[in-house]
Amino acid sequence: MDLEIRNDIFNQAKKWIREAGATIREKIDDPLTIDTKSNPKDLVTHMDKETEQFFVKQIKSTYRDHLLLSEEGFGDDLQSLDGTVWIVDPIDGTMNFVQQKRNFAISVGIYHHGIGEIGFIYNVMDDILYSAKRGEGAFKNDIQLPRLKDNVKLDESLLGLNHFWLCENRLVDEKQMQRLVREVRGTRTYGSAALEFAYVAEGIMDGYLTMSLAPWDVAAGIIIVNEVGGVTSNIMGEEVNMLERNSILTCHPAIKKSIINDFLKKGKK
Ligand code: IPD
Ligand code: CA
Ligand code: CA
Repeated sequence: MDLEIRNDIFNQAKKWIREAGATIREKIDDPLTIDTKSNPKDLVTHMDKETEQFFVKQIKSTYRDHLLLSEEGFGDDLQSLDGTVWIVDPIDGTMNFVQQKRNFAISVGIYHHGIGEIGFIYNVMDDILYSAKRGEGAFKNDIQLPRLKDNVKLDESLLGLNHFWLCENRLVDEKQMQRLVREVRGTRTYGSAALEFAYVAEGIMDGYLTMSLAPWDVAAGIIIVNEVGGVTSNIMGEEVNMLERNSILTCHPAIKKSIINDFLKKGKK
């Protein structure tokens, strides 16, 4: 992607994300309309929908040939990542948004012919914007994030986990997961995949492991983590398919091989 065009898109996206975040903060105490989607615990609110519609309107009126892959269905129905594609989660961590009014994020990844060029994860209530352009490092607000530290050992790691491994254990062996939980120094669950990617990029978690995420949960995070030297794959170590759901391991490269070979691949049915 032409760097001047990329800078223009970056600045525009940043402005819209901050604007969308300000609107959410302003309306945070307004009554919420809450619906459910695939199951009674899969929540969506009018704010998820309105925020996504805001992005669709801005993107489509400014960049007529750009495409949108987004969670709430106002984007395009995509069969490929050809062209410039904005992958948007208007509120990642809707359950936190509903129950806690914090710990949620706006996530925007911008891909050009399948290559991640720009990533934004905006912690709305804390007003912290993580961002990255491919090849130009990652930032927390205006401060560049350092590359991940050199020596990370699995038994000293802090690992983010979504506990669906307890339910989706056809993908992994429960006993091996229990070994992994005992092996690492500690585990954390924050309830927003995007923020968990951001914490890995920031170096305050060494990895994040989960059994099933959609493209909009990971699109920005992959780019931001990559810019500090982190790596992302599915739990078998294979490349993430940005048009489908994937299991996800994003982490410091020093612990990837061991997590996959010594735990995730072991004892699998
Ligand atoms: C969810 C969050 C959550 C993750 C779920 C996602 P949503 O996104 O990222 O942390 O565990 O798998 O679906 O629905 O709040 O946008
Ligand atoms: Ca999400
Ligand atoms: Ca969402």
